[in-house]
Amino acid sequence: MPQKLVIARAVGLKGETFVSGDKSISHRALIFSGLGKGTSRIKGFLNGSDCLATLEIVKQLGITVNKISPTEILLKSDGFFKEPEQVLDCQNSGTTIRLLCGLLAGQNFFSALTGSEQIRRRPMGRVIEPLTQMHAQIYGRKNNTLAPISILPSKKLMGQTFHLGVASAQVKSCLLLAGLFAENTTTVIEPGPARDHTERMLKAMGAPIAINGNAVSIQKLASNLQPMDISIPGDMSSAAFLLVAASIIENSHIMIKNVGINRTRNGIIEALTQMNADVSLHNLREEAGEPIADINVKTANLKGAIFDSKQVVRMIDELPILAVAATQAHGTTLIKDAAELKVKETNRIDTTVSELRKMGANIEATEDGFIVEGPTPLKGTVLDSHGDHRLAMMGVIAGLCAKNDTTVIHTDVIKDSFPTFTVCLRELGAKLEEQ
Ligand code: S3P
Repeated sequence: MPQKLVIARAVGLKGETFVSGDKSISHRALIFSGLGKGTSRIKGFLNGSDCLATLEIVKQLGITVNKISPTEILLKSDGFFKEPEQVLDCQNSGTTIRLLCGLLAGQNFFSALTGSEQIRRRPMGRVIEPLTQMHAQIYGRKNNTLAPISILPSKKLMGQTFHLGVASAQVKSCLLLAGLFAENTTTVIEPGPARDHTERMLKAMGAPIAINGNAVSIQKLASNLQPMDISIPGDMSSAAFLLVAASIIENSHIMIKNVGINRTRNGIIEALTQMNADVSLHNLREEAGEPIADINVKTANLKGAIFDSKQVVRMIDELPILAVAATQAHGTTLIKDAAELKVKETNRIDTTVSELRKMGANIEATEDGFIVEGPTPLKGTVLDSHGDHRLAMMGVIAGLCAKNDTTVIHTDVIKDSFPTFTVCLRELGAKLEEQ
């Protein structure tokens, strides 16, 4: 992925494409394969930097990895993990560090986790604190709130009931993984429906997990799980960039094939439909417990809408690109109950607002989201990703509907989640120059 992309105004996106594999499912498939004795097969793996960081770590934890192609992997596990010889580097990946905290807190060996400067700024107290309540010996910098994190051999983890303050799939998954190694039952009660890939995958592998409304309970593992054989669908969070692009660029009509449409992830489809977008789902099917569809999108006359906690949790990573749609929609769009955006790869309320304003958008930050007035013609200018993959892609899509050329700098981070982003856009007719 190049350092810099120069984007020309698009005249209409057309054709069919596939997006890269789902990031959340790819991480989980790698980590959970270690719990199944035998060989697991993953197809449709996201060959992006975040998941490659997880792949290196599972190797260090004793799993034998055979990469058949960039998207197909065989993983052989003895059914348990081994003490790593090195500090585990999670690079830019929040999912990697938080899920591994839960898994490693239950192991009878020492481990240490760190990551990039970005990851070392993100809050880790949200996993360290509840794991400590489960009697894990887990410590972090700055009074147990930041990485690097060290984990001492587990004595006896004790299951508990946790009422999460924020709907976070990373925290939920972390505690469920620790629960697999804890006495008694571990129950996580969430305030909203955070993505449920952990629950689906653990259930499919035979884990003792039960779901009751917004409560998920797990029991200590009595034996190894089944190895998995999974085909990972395309990532809705990546598809979202193309959905918005085709909706706002005149004369567009595209089909994105094989995208995961799990209810905890399809908030963006609902939101765009509410804004009058022309989006339809075709060829609905299910694979490895995950619903999948092909998504058809045409240019539409968007109108503003209000989104709150009920939808925000199901499209938290899509809010920057939804803001771009809002700049082209008639009327006011208000996104509230999204304070979690402040603790993503960047403070995405600040970075979304500052970058779109450079293009002339009428967008204001609020305490917990943003408010956008539209439609506003966007002007091409120089945008900065701030080292955040979703901000980089947001800038590229905004550039496609700007009057003159747009330059986005520090676009190499796009490879964290959507390594085929420029390939997909070019397939659909976009003109991007790499510098
Ligand atoms: C993820 C959960 C979300 C999301 C992130 C991936 C996951 O984070 O923003 O990109 O795979 O569990 P939170 O759990 O912090 O909301």
